[in-house]
This record gives sequence, C-alpha cells and structure tokens, in this order.
Amino acid sequence: MGNKPIVIGIAGGTGSGKTSVTKAIYDQFKGHSILMIQQDSYYKDQTHLPMDERLKTNYDHPLAFDNDLFIEHINQLLQYKAIEKPVYDYTIHTRSSETIPVEPKEVIILEGILVLEDERLRDLMDIKIFVDTDADLRILRRIQRDIKERGRTVDSVVDQYVNVVRPMHNQFCEPSKKFADIIIPEGGQNFVAIDLMATKIQTILERVSVL
Ligand code: ADP
Ligand code: C5P
Repeated sequence: MGNKPIVIGIAGGTGSGKTSVTKAIYDQFKGHSILMIQQDSYYKDQTHLPMDERLKTNYDHPLAFDNDLFIEHINQLLQYKAIEKPVYDYTIHTRSSETIPVEPKEVIILEGILVLEDERLRDLMDIKIFVDTDADLRILRRIQRDIKERGRTVDSVVDQYVNVVRPMHNQFCEPSKKFADIIIPEGGQNFVAIDLMATKIQTILERVSVL
C-alpha cells in the first residue's frame, strides 16, 4: 500500500462524456487497484418525499448532493477503510434501499457535474480534470441517454434543460472549469487524453507496486 490513495476528480457538464472518459480509463485497469465513484450516487435521499415533490427538485444545484456523506466516504477510503456506497435510481429520483460495499483502492476516480465546485472535494483531489464539450452536443446526447436509460420523455428533458440544467450549468459547473489541472475537449472519443491519463495512473500504480 502507498501512503494514501490518489484521488482524481473528473467534472464536466451533463452529457459532456465524463462517465465515458472515466469508464474508458477504469476499464484499462479493471482488476487492479482502482475504483470509480459517481457523485450522482450521493444525490440526497428523497424517499420521504412524494413523487410530485421529487419532480420539483433542482438536481443541478450543489445543494441537491449529500456532499457531507460523499466527503466522509472519500476520507474513509483514504484511510483504507471500506464504505457502503448509496445506490441512486434516476427513474424514482431517490436512493434505492440497497447499498454497495466498496473496498479501498490505490486510485480513486470521482466523477460528476459538480465535483470541482465544492472546495472540500477539490482539496481531497490530486488531479482535477474537466471534460469540455459544446452545449449543443451535450443536450443531444442527454436527450438520447435520458430517454433510453433514465425513463424520460423528449418534452421532459427539453423542459428541464431550458429551465434548470442550462442556468445551473452556467452558474455552477462551467465556472468550476477554472479549477481543473487538465481540460479534455469532447468526451469518450478523445483517445489521446484517455491514454495520457492511463499512462499517469499506471505510473502511480507501479510506484505503489500494485500493478
Ligand atoms: P456525462 O457522464 O458527462 O453525462 P456520458 O459519458 O454519460 O456523459 O455521455 C452521455 C451520452 O453521450 C452517452 O449516451 C454516451 O454514450 C454518449 N457519448 C459520450 N461521449 C461521446 C462522443 N464522444 N461521441 C458520441 N457520443 C458520446
Ligand atoms: O450523468 P450526468 O452528469 O448527466 O448526471 C447529472 C444530471 O442528472 C444533472 O444534470 C441532473 O439534471 C440529472 N438528474 C435528473 N434527475 C435526477 C437526478 C439527476 O435529471 N433524479
């Protein structure tokens, strides 16, 4: 084991491709000492609220996330302690009743729209990345994904995007780009950036002799 695990934060607007980038990097090291955690898993628990109230929540505001729990869990992992990660269900807008046990690893990738927005999270990161993709591509990708994977209609995605997602992106996500060490243009197809990150991670893992 090294002195402490390395934490990499990957932020970017919705549909920018940050999950694709994170998965592409993660897949190259599957089976080795690496784990990824999505900030979305730490959306606040809303099980106590009726569905019509959950639909009114602003999911693009920093206060939608339970960052206290997120940070507590990262600190546990940094001390090589296991956590019980919450599971989020977009179709019912709240956590599911199950949790997933996550064992500590040497490289921890944190991914989410606002992981660079909270100074406490930034302070835990060794490498900060922002995936930067034009808004027109992001909304097109989001429409396709949310209908296929998150149980939404075109009208609901467009309405939410115009009224909430876009203004919140401009207020909270885009300004967090200035905190990034590295900006990756486009998402999952930027193989040069993905390879560079993979090389960096390989060096870290070799240093702690776990590869
Ligand atoms: P994010 O996590 O930033 O919201 P995702 O990685 O989930 O973004 O990507 C959103 C959608 O766009 C997914 O359906 C994904 O397959 C697709 N996607 C991501 N990157 C690209 C790309 N470079 N070209 C085309 N589609 C992409
Ligand atoms: O994967 P992605 O980065 O797109 O996830 C963040 C997005 O998920 C936010 O822009 C938010 O609007 C959306 N979201 C949602 N419904 C929820 C929780 C999050 O539409 N219940």
